[in-house]
Amino acid sequence: MMTTFESPSGWRDQRRSQVRAGWTLGFVPTMGALHEGHVSLVRRSRAENDLTMVSIFVNPTQFDDPADLAKYPRTLDDDLALLRAEGTDFVFLPREPDLYTDGHRYRVTETGLSTAMEGGRRPGHFDGVLTVVLKLLQIVSADRAYFGEKDWQQLTLVRGMADAFFLQTTIVACPTVRDPDGLALSSRNRRLLPADRQKAPDFYRALSAAPTADAARRNLLESGFAVDYVEDRDGRRLGAVRLGNVRLIDNVSLGGRP
Ligand code: PAJ
Repeated sequence: MMTTFESPSGWRDQRRSQVRAGWTLGFVPTMGALHEGHVSLVRRSRAENDLTMVSIFVNPTQFDDPADLAKYPRTLDDDLALLRAEGTDFVFLPREPDLYTDGHRYRVTETGLSTAMEGGRRPGHFDGVLTVVLKLLQIVSADRAYFGEKDWQQLTLVRGMADAFFLQTTIVACPTVRDPDGLALSSRNRRLLPADRQKAPDFYRALSAAPTADAARRNLLESGFAVDYVEDRDGRRLGAVRLGNVRLIDNVSLGGRP
């Protein structure tokens, strides 16, 4: 049976009776429009914990572009059906005012990595991500929380926050799930025009195959991508490109691993 919670206090009141003594709880935060990438996190949580909670919340504070927020796909009925089929125990569907009871006066800011790459192009983005993730982790109070390597910079910053604030939840990293042609699954892929969808796997190929970040950037420009950045950092190559009005991000290990 899958139980849905909307208010943070509703879950906090119930947590003790829902999660029996000694049982472990895994948590997968999402913004919905769920795909196999999200499902891989849910499966990992189910494999490693007695109970699993998934949250769906399209967090407005991490969108620097109001048009992107407005266009963000919302597929709640399909999402709930998918989560039920995957054996999810709890779904948390908070409403904006219940999460931001402080009227946005408090926020988490990281002053290093968060200003580079995604943070450089999307001012305030990681403040929004870290603040909502801290709220969610505190409300859900799970043993483990699952994040995708697809969003490498986000994962690194969330891990750093968990360390910096001595959070009680262990952050677990999960590998990127790709379509057979190499395109990393993303909720935004469904907005690609057919011709752009065909071209999109070249992004992953260029990141993986080029000898340097500069060479990858040149390959991408030649193939008709608008390139936001390609950077090598800490043994990974990270990039962001635009095809039409869809922005794609991806990253690969420089050590030969996927
Ligand atoms: P969202 O984009 O919905 O992603 C939820 C989680 O799924 C993230 O940890 C993300 O890295 C992971 N994910 C997405 N695509 C994936 C793929 N192809 N393979 C593996 N994992 C994948 O990321 C967010 O939401 C938000 O920023 C959030 C953390 C929920 C805070 O609002």
